[in-house]
Amino acid sequence: MCGIVGVVGRLGNLNAARPNQSVANDAAANLVINNDNSIGVVDVLMEGLRRLEYRGYDSAGVATLVDGKIERRRAMGKLENLRTLLAEKPFHQPGTIGIGHTRWATHGEPSTRNAHPHKGERVVVVHNGIIENYRDLRDELTKRGVTFTSETDTEVIAHLLDQALLRGLKPQQAVAETLPLLHGAFALAMLFQGYDDLLIGARRGSPLCLGYRNAAIDDDSHTGVAAHLLASDALALAGMVDQVTYLEEGDWVVLSAMQAVIYNADNQVVARPSQPLAMNGQQTDKGLFPHFMLKEIHEQPATVVDSLLPFINPLERQLTIDLPGIDWAKLHHVTLVGCGTAFYVGMVAKYWFEELAALPAIVDIASEFRYRATRSQMAELVVFVSQSGETADTLAAMRFAKERGQKTLAIVNVPTSTMAREADIVLHTHAGPEISVASTKASTAQLTVLAALCLAAARGRGVINAEQLSAHLAAFADLPGQFAAVLAEDDTYRRIGVQLAEARNILFIGRGSCYPVAMEGALKMKELTYIHAEGFPAGELKHGPIALLDSGVPVITLAPPDRLQEKTLSNMQEAMARSAPIILLSDAASCQRFGNQAGITPLALPTTSTLTAPLVYTLPMQLLAYYCAVARGTDVDQPRNLAKSVTVE
Ligand code: F6R
Repeated sequence: MCGIVGVVGRLGNLNAARPNQSVANDAAANLVINNDNSIGVVDVLMEGLRRLEYRGYDSAGVATLVDGKIERRRAMGKLENLRTLLAEKPFHQPGTIGIGHTRWATHGEPSTRNAHPHKGERVVVVHNGIIENYRDLRDELTKRGVTFTSETDTEVIAHLLDQALLRGLKPQQAVAETLPLLHGAFALAMLFQGYDDLLIGARRGSPLCLGYRNAAIDDDSHTGVAAHLLASDALALAGMVDQVTYLEEGDWVVLSAMQAVIYNADNQVVARPSQPLAMNGQQTDKGLFPHFMLKEIHEQPATVVDSLLPFINPLERQLTIDLPGIDWAKLHHVTLVGCGTAFYVGMVAKYWFEELAALPAIVDIASEFRYRATRSQMAELVVFVSQSGETADTLAAMRFAKERGQKTLAIVNVPTSTMAREADIVLHTHAGPEISVASTKASTAQLTVLAALCLAAARGRGVINAEQLSAHLAAFADLPGQFAAVLAEDDTYRRIGVQLAEARNILFIGRGSCYPVAMEGALKMKELTYIHAEGFPAGELKHGPIALLDSGVPVITLAPPDRLQEKTLSNMQEAMARSAPIILLSDAASCQRFGNQAGITPLALPTTSTLTAPLVYTLPMQLLAYYCAVARGTDVDQPRNLAKSVTVE
């Protein structure tokens, strides 16, 4: 979490066509163009931070060098507060160098004094990650007379660098000496007093990419502007750079406007590949939708197809997924690991693996997986599910499995992420950038890919015949249309979302593969609306949670047409008998059956199969939570205390 961005050099007119960019950049609209046609450094930082705000929004700050001296502006809360501060107190002549940060608080409360950048006398730093030994370092520095002005772990880095500079080391030497002292995870960007053409970045455990702005494209004279940029996520650089390099574990980089030198953890100069950045600034725009979340919910008919097509040909009814080195017939079980929504996606797949492929599956929360005595029960294949591909718990679990010789398979949405680079096998979801903090389109894309994987397992284990496989694949062809049908009922969900806004507690119940969908519904509801919500297996209600029920506790019942439907509907009636208002999500026939009963709001969904039910039933979970949050006036895209990419343990 936390987003960092850095720039050294001048950026030309962002409206100038870049080779990888077919459309003009929306970023340009927000930026101040200097007399020499370049973009102000603060605007570049603010645009980068705007796109990184999904990583944290407890505070934000920027720093630059003015006449060689460090100046910074920091504000608590969202980026907007920093924008206001910069308007009131602009930098006096900002130069061509700067760093910026948007924070998700780990050490120290969200406040201005804990906001980054953090300063020593001669250096200023932004940091994403956690310095685990910061207390020891802080004690040591305090003994040497250093005074700390924040409660953060980051400030020790600034002071360690400062001490090295004080002993006469050059900035580069100071960084080389300081990095090995730090335990934990970090991505850093650092500026040094008196060095207005020097930006140093470093990464260990947290992502950092380097962007190159090609001077020749910026003006006809083929001279003039050139810049290097750093960011936690390439999205921050889209439309502003021509090429990017994803720094590797332990790398650090010394940048001037014209030059980039990358060092590895042993301080040897290394060459890292660069690639064109195939995104543009418009992908970070919500278009006509009031929130990114609603835009992303409505993208799902398209993203589900994009995620499906690399693995399935639904029209020809062919499974084209290719998994070199996996002998499904020999596997005894498979383990699935993820966090939050990705964990619930893994839970759905557990039901699928067991039911369709007769393959036992264990599903584990990433932060628990590697600390349990999993060794004896570890599967030969461990599947890691992650939108960002950077979630610290999932990444650590993946490295733990790898170290133990397990085959790792990552299902990730960010193709350049660390998990995508480190897993033995990668299956990409093609959901596109997901900006809203609550995961929507990424989760249905993950389900799609896992469904294809389960069918591959079923085929590989010889437990499915050609006719059954063909029927499953045909069901996929219906998915985009079924998604569109659910989304067409947007107004109905809006109306019910408004009613739910009055609830004290909300329960979600389901059975089989819709039990994890019920859990996902509860997670979406609580993270967006701050209403207490829980998901339960429908049969479990009577073993305790039923005590919570009264007329103020709605029960959202997921009852797709499957062999468990009647049992779920019976559990729903038990809840009705305790005066709980019921929202029934089911097929048209069941909705009709219960439609006339008082206390039930039926919502008919398209007819689904074993594989498609969890996908189709996920959409109402998203819409109900979204509209309930809008009715309650919460911050839908950036709920309190959360961040999208959780890169701390
Ligand atoms: C909930 C949500 C989170 C993420 C979780 C894992 O809406 O978005 O629960 O699913 O933090 O993130 P990734 O998938 O990036 O590993």
